[in-house]
Amino acid sequence: MNIYQTIRLSLLGALLIALASCGSDKRQPGRTFVPDMAYSQAYETYTKNPAFGKDSLSGVDSFSARLPVAGTIPRGLLPELSDSATDQELASYLYKRNYPNDSLNYANAGANVKNPFQPTKEVLERGKHIYTIHCIVCHGEKGAGDGSIVQSGAYPQVVSYADRLPTITEGQMFHTITYGKGLMGSYSAALTAEDRWKVILFIEQLAAVGPFAKGAATTAAAPADTTTTAAPSN
Ligand code: HEC
Repeated sequence: MNIYQTIRLSLLGALLIALASCGSDKRQPGRTFVPDMAYSQAYETYTKNPAFGKDSLSGVDSFSARLPVAGTIPRGLLPELSDSATDQELASYLYKRNYPNDSLNYANAGANVKNPFQPTKEVLERGKHIYTIHCIVCHGEKGAGDGSIVQSGAYPQVVSYADRLPTITEGQMFHTITYGKGLMGSYSAALTAEDRWKVILFIEQLAAVGPFAKGAATTAAAPADTTTTAAPSN
């Protein structure tokens, strides 16, 4: 058999295979020569996957969906703070590690954790945006505790910011928004630390406390008034 015959035979073979793999029914794919490629072996996200069975490093978790490596930080979780950022400023970004959810840490946060943001126009606009999406249904447009689900009767009374906020610190507000309190849920998954601080500035504005308290911006004008200097310190 010379080279031309070999080529002719293999061409004929290829043609036969090509013809045999097509069916007359256009809705059928015909014969599949490499089925693993046509029908890949996909695993559902939360089903058991033999690749991560009991021999896996964890020894327990065999889900197809793998957990992120321990210590993974989601993009955007940590802010672009300058090198001069204080530990106190950074504390709120790793808040849950520094302040577990108990009443002692509610008090500690109240004393130590401070808002790293200033109430600029952009910050307050962002705070209002978040408030409108996440908080207004309960707390109401002006923070009086008369949001639509309270008015509908589906939800019991919610505290008014004007009553409650003057009695707590911004650190305690941060603690509550992070972990939830009473009937209010946690917002640590829905809101970044930055957004939690921004919404705090917005509700402080609603209740006229913190930087919005009467006389807060004009401390220089009231040096003789001892009561105004005592108020913001804790
Ligand atoms: C489902 C209704 C509901 C939603 C939504 C809600 N809250 Fe609350 N909030 C409450 C209730 C109820 C309380 C009173 C909790 C208590 O003292 O038991 C409260 C209390 C608070 C307090 C006082 C915390 C303290 O330590 O006493 C702050 C601050 C606050 N909410 C902020 C927010 C912010 C900001 C949002 C949106 C990100 C929000 N809330 C969303 C129901 C809600």
